[in-house]
Amino acid sequence: MSATLPSRVTSASAAVTDFASTASCFEIEGLCLAYDGKQALRNLTLRIPRQRVTAFIGPSGCGKSTLLRVLNRLHDLNEDVSRQGRVSLEGQDIHAPQVDVAELRRRVGMVFQTPNPFPMSIYDNVAFGVRLQGIKRKRVLDEIVEWALDSAALWDEVKDRLHGSAWALSGGQQQRLVIARTLAVQPDVLLLDEPASALDPISTLKIEELIRSLKSRLTLVLVTHNMQQAARVSDYTAFLQDGELVEYAATDNLFTNPRLRRTENYITGRMS
Ligand SMILES: Nc1ncnc2c1ncn2[C@@H]1O[C@H](COP(=O)(O)OP(=O)(O)OP(=O)(O)O)[C@@H](O)[C@H]1O
Ligand SMILES: [Mg+2]
Repeated sequence: MSATLPSRVTSASAAVTDFASTASCFEIEGLCLAYDGKQALRNLTLRIPRQRVTAFIGPSGCGKSTLLRVLNRLHDLNEDVSRQGRVSLEGQDIHAPQVDVAELRRRVGMVFQTPNPFPMSIYDNVAFGVRLQGIKRKRVLDEIVEWALDSAALWDEVKDRLHGSAWALSGGQQQRLVIARTLAVQPDVLLLDEPASALDPISTLKIEELIRSLKSRLTLVLVTHNMQQAARVSDYTAFLQDGELVEYAATDNLFTNPRLRRTENYITGRMS
């Protein structure tokens, strides 16, 4: 694990490690979110370190996906959502009026649980966002497509069928294709919401290897139900329950030496 253990601060409700020695990618302060008046996130304050893997764990309905979606403003699409608090990316408030949301979503890419390749060729899937940015020259597109597929550990498996349908790929290959499509537009952050939960064990391991390999150039945030997966791939883990941040620490520490009984009960399976 590359992260060193920094000093800790404890608040009344949460045991939160202060990652003083790592640069922040996101800083979240006093974040509250409600769906139609029903509170889903309660006063969350945490930093997400740059070029690390941060995992969000916790029981179903605790707010993991909600928190992830705030980070690239996916909730803007939902009129029933109300939010308070501040989220900044590299020091800039992501909700400021001058923020270009399309550009924010380019910088902060998102991968969902079920692979969702577009109904087009492998090549066109990866080139899709790049073409939208106005890049049309075939040689440039070819280079970006190869680079992105290679970065997503898929190039060798698909290089001879780039113009075949993306839907003919296996589930695990489709998920890596979606990651390649996201990487092609050069994001700074990759948000992954249970990216391997629909996949077989071998494909899951490939996704985990990929996550580890990407953190040298990206910040990754991973939602997972699988605690072994969080322990295998993440540097830091945040445990959420009922919309609250309960404990947040270096992953090794959180799993081997949780500070709060609530965390221990969850990770030892006494609570689902
Ligand atoms: N679009 C929505 N409209 C209304 N309520 C929602 C919506 N999305 C989520 N919620 C509610 O917000 C709370 C948090 O949901 P969220 O999907 O963030 O949980 P989660 O931790 O990702 O759960 P899971 O592990 O099952 O995916 C839940 O009570 C859920 O019912
Ligand atoms: Mg979820």
